Amino acid sequence: MSKTQDELKRAVAEAARDHVAENLPAGAILGVGTGSTANFFIDALATIRDRLGGAVASSEATRARLVAQAIPVLELNEVVERDLPLPIYVDGADEIDAGLAMIKGGGGALTREKIVAAVADTFVCVCDASKRVAVLGSFPLPVEVIPMARAHVARELAKLGGTPKLRAGDLTDNGNLILDVHGLVIADPVRLEVTINQIAGVVANGLFAQRGADLLLLAGHAGVQRHAR
Ligand code: 5RP
Repeated sequence: MSKTQDELKRAVAEAARDHVAENLPAGAILGVGTGSTANFFIDALATIRDRLGGAVASSEATRARLVAQAIPVLELNEVVERDLPLPIYVDGADEIDAGLAMIKGGGGALTREKIVAAVADTFVCVCDASKRVAVLGSFPLPVEVIPMARAHVARELAKLGGTPKLRAGDLTDNGNLILDVHGLVIADPVRLEVTINQIAGVVANGLFAQRGADLLLLAGHAGVQRHAR
């Protein structure tokens, strides 16, 4: 029988929890992403919370859900300053290609996600099969922008061939705006990630290509497949 998307998300979240249980050293810190798949993952973590030294959250929503599961949340600055290892970061994606480059930020948490991913040793992406694409770009690319730079950044993004639309009524956890860029065909994700980052006023963009995933856990109707980089 075919599974619902939520059943696939729960299945991949539980597979990620098992991966953490097998690979995270006891007492180590875990990086935790944002979104509905990440929420299933946080709920699944309840069964191994005693193994965790704590978690670093990639958004305020994730922080609140971790606290609700009685998982201690540490600040990323403290983890880095104390030189604590952050062996694994687990997060979802809006799209992922065969090279494990991703579009992220549908939930608006792209900047903090990118920062936590940059510190972690490995990025484990958890997706249902609908997220796997041949070429990135059908999902509008989120770009976090300093409010006073909105019009300038939108004009520069249009020069790159996209149609930016302001995510109305939505401020990020950092107090910034999101432009969702429609109509991009992203043949070279690393190059576009770098190019967009160079526009003055851009905080971060939702291409995770320079630092893509190291392992993809992909839930389909036949089970959860593993794809390593
Ligand atoms: C949030 C993200 C999410 O990982 C992405 O939007 C996927 O979310 P979901 O698991 O709800 O489909 O990048 O900023």
